[in-house]
Amino acid sequence: MDERHDKLKGGFSTRSVHGGESRRKPSHSITNPIVQTATYVFSDTDELIDFVTGKTDREEYGRYGNPTKTVAERKLAELEGGEDAALFSSGMNAFTSVLLAMLSSGAHVIIMDECYRRSRQFCLQALPRYGIDVSLVKTGDYEALEAAITDRTRIIVSESPTNPYLNVIDLERIAVLGRTHGVKTLIDGTFATPFNQRPLEFGIDLVVHSATKYLGGHNDLLAGVVIGNAGLVAAIREFRDVTGGIVDPHGAYLLIRGLKTFALRMEQHNRNGLAIASFLEAHPRIRRVYYPGLASHPHHEIARRQMTGFGGVVSFEIDGDMQTASRFIDRLRIPFIGPSLGGVESLIEQPAIMSFYEMEPEDRLAIGIKDELVRFSVGIENVDDLIDDLDQALKGIS
Ligand SMILES: Cc1ncc(COP(=O)(O)O)c(C=O)c1O
Repeated sequence: MDERHDKLKGGFSTRSVHGGESRRKPSHSITNPIVQTATYVFSDTDELIDFVTGKTDREEYGRYGNPTKTVAERKLAELEGGEDAALFSSGMNAFTSVLLAMLSSGAHVIIMDECYRRSRQFCLQALPRYGIDVSLVKTGDYEALEAAITDRTRIIVSESPTNPYLNVIDLERIAVLGRTHGVKTLIDGTFATPFNQRPLEFGIDLVVHSATKYLGGHNDLLAGVVIGNAGLVAAIREFRDVTGGIVDPHGAYLLIRGLKTFALRMEQHNRNGLAIASFLEAHPRIRRVYYPGLASHPHHEIARRQMTGFGGVVSFEIDGDMQTASRFIDRLRIPFIGPSLGGVESLIEQPAIMSFYEMEPEDRLAIGIKDELVRFSVGIENVDDLIDDLDQALKGIS
């Protein structure tokens, strides 16, 4: 790596643009090339022997390494403030790999009940088949969390903020609990991103993100990342290099490209999110708004302490029933109806229909998914246009 790269750390935006990259790139290109290859070749046997005996450091095979992917990993580690990062083919692949790499039969895991439903599904359905016990603890119930820790507990898993109610976890409290009991802590920070929250600074051991969301930022790639200290990440990377959940070089390039404008995008997501949450909170057709940047959010104070912005996801309840909320969504002209979040395009969904339609209404309600709940992933469009659009759609359902 170019020496000047190492000296160039700088502010968040500088690291978004330059972090992890060498100043001098092949063919004097300003952009980092996509090294689209499955394997790497040796010019003769001596060169191969130098490599296998550790005299040279280079790539050998695509599952073990790729220069485009390495740049994306370094950039993400710099943004999160971690020693190392390992990229995966999706957020779920990152999450499942971290747990499988760190756990053995007989171990015990604690996961908070507001974690992404596929993460919960993996913990509650898949891990027990490998002899790993799992406890589900109410998000934010720190006494129940401590009571659930046993001498077999290896990891505590949470998200912050959570989906869809944007509840915020006290990161320092979780980190202290983990350290006191010798248990590792893992936070899925997808909704916050390192622009708004850096759990490692609060003593958390590992952070995972679905890079499919804000990090990529353009709804055009799937990737996941784990960031933390070098020893832990090295073990997880070794596991990945065996199981093969790698991101492809083109996906890594798109991620680097997306990260160039990360700080700019996040500023706009934060601004738009807060403006829209405030608009909705004052609207007579809205029953309740969930946004940690609003003083009315139950976790506003802790959010202010540990976050520098509150992101672009705003959840709210329409004054009406499931059909009223659907009519409102169908009248909107700018946001697309679709799952996911964190891209430049606004996306809107009714969780009761998008992800939980198969469930009986009482079961949905039991896990807190109300029929009239709407989750809005606010994009980076002009906020006045978005507010006008919301306003006309709300007037239309009156
Ligand atoms: C908080 C959170 N974590 C993880 C994931 C999984 O990420 P991916 O879809 O990239 O596998 C998601 C996806 O929606 C998510 O919202």
